[in-house]
Amino acid sequence: MRTSGEGCTFHTYISGHFNNPYPRAAMSEKAQIILNGKTYEFPVVTGSEGEKAIDIGKLRDETGYITLDFGYKNTGATTSAITFLDGEEGILHYRGYPIEQLAEKASFIEVAYLLLFGELPNKKQLEEFEGNIRYHSLVHEDMKRFFEHFPSNAHPMGILSAMVNSLSTFYPKSQDPHRPQALVLRTIYRLIAKMPTLAAISYKNNLGHPYMYPVNKLGYVENFLHMMFALPTEEYEVDPVVADALNKLLILHADHEQNCSTSTVRIVGSSQANLYSAVSAGIAALWGPLHGGANQEVIEMLETIRNDGGDIQKWVDKAKDKNDPFRLFGFGHRVYKNFDPRAKIMQKTCHEVLGELGITDEPLLDLAMALERIALEDDYFVSRKLYPNVDFYSGIILKAMGIPTSMFTVIFAVARTVGWVSQWKEMVEDPSQRIGRPRQIYTGPSQRDYVDVARRG
Ligand code: ACO
Repeated sequence: MRTSGEGCTFHTYISGHFNNPYPRAAMSEKAQIILNGKTYEFPVVTGSEGEKAIDIGKLRDETGYITLDFGYKNTGATTSAITFLDGEEGILHYRGYPIEQLAEKASFIEVAYLLLFGELPNKKQLEEFEGNIRYHSLVHEDMKRFFEHFPSNAHPMGILSAMVNSLSTFYPKSQDPHRPQALVLRTIYRLIAKMPTLAAISYKNNLGHPYMYPVNKLGYVENFLHMMFALPTEEYEVDPVVADALNKLLILHADHEQNCSTSTVRIVGSSQANLYSAVSAGIAALWGPLHGGANQEVIEMLETIRNDGGDIQKWVDKAKDKNDPFRLFGFGHRVYKNFDPRAKIMQKTCHEVLGELGITDEPLLDLAMALERIALEDDYFVSRKLYPNVDFYSGIILKAMGIPTSMFTVIFAVARTVGWVSQWKEMVEDPSQRIGRPRQIYTGPSQRDYVDVARRG
């Protein structure tokens, strides 16, 4: 490989084997950077699926230069053995297992175990894990008082982020960066267990309905639905079609390597802040409309298009207009440049769920399909490799399940919690981990002297 810029040439070559500091990443190549005539060598790291990176860990020490990479488009912040994705081929694996197989056959709680511990659980391990999660699903009664003081129209993502951070005040031992391993695991179980409880209370709070306690005989997904939709006044039966669809949706959203919210969790955690605070920051990052908040935006966009008369071309043209801030939500992805495998599964599931629930007429689904068709034939989207992402169809499924729009990103957060805690666990167990602290190139004024206010014109 050879690239070149002003005063700088860059190429890589294969060399003999030498000591590999990356336990799961082979190193047999080296890269050379030529800066102002001087050659510097850097190791090339190769992942288990053949991805390559130039390890520039010593770049500044040796050359005085840093790299500049807006939005970290080319920057690997870590090695990781959890999730593999190939954006060109549309491949997504959790711990080596294709997402299609997991979505089809696994339970969300099995996937949570897989992400956390690296292997699918056997029967005993699964029962133990489920027991641990069940044990921690209640939240402290005092937390109810916090909920009562949020405005009734508060967005549940704001509530969720605040509540998860406040969990750290109920479990002060978790704030000790040198806590024993058992306590770390307990914090992880608490987070996975309490997230649906907190999410459901946020929802009930909006409605002004009484909070429903978790029921131990129910599974994770069924319990979540029970806490969201049951009322103390009547029997509630979980619809297996809805539970199945939610299980699939949670699996598809469980992890996605170093995305915006996961990188946030890692960087907050890298300062040895407690895990509750790191996950709370991850929830805040996920809320943004360019990330997880897109699932809410998609439905609102489709509703706006429908209410505006359904002229899809007009909205496609708006999305293409560089003077118009409008973007087609649910389209485009930083990494997927061919198709998002999760979107394919989501689209199929959407048709199945609507069919099984007997919803024969869903105008938003028809609109979404027409929008997808028109956009995928348009050169603007084709040339920029903009395809529907996971959020394009998920909102329609959630809507069919009776989940209100403001809860869509909350459901995503419940799922992604298992990814966040797995990535955090991997980070804190890695002895080479350092505090996350990027550099910058300063572009402000050079040094100048202070002038007294009376003398400033
Ligand atoms: N509608 C219209 N144009 C778009 C869209 C879109 N949805 N997405 C990207 N583009 C255009 C950009 O304007 C840019 O055009 P240009 O090259 O002429 O300037 C080009 O495509 C590349 O886009 P970037 O913003 O540079 O790509 P980036 O990788 O930084 O952003 C992102 C990815 C944020 C997902 C973007 O595609 C987007 O905003 N999509 C809509 C929001 C969305 O659906 N987010 C959910 C992502 S999935 C998830 O996080 C769970």
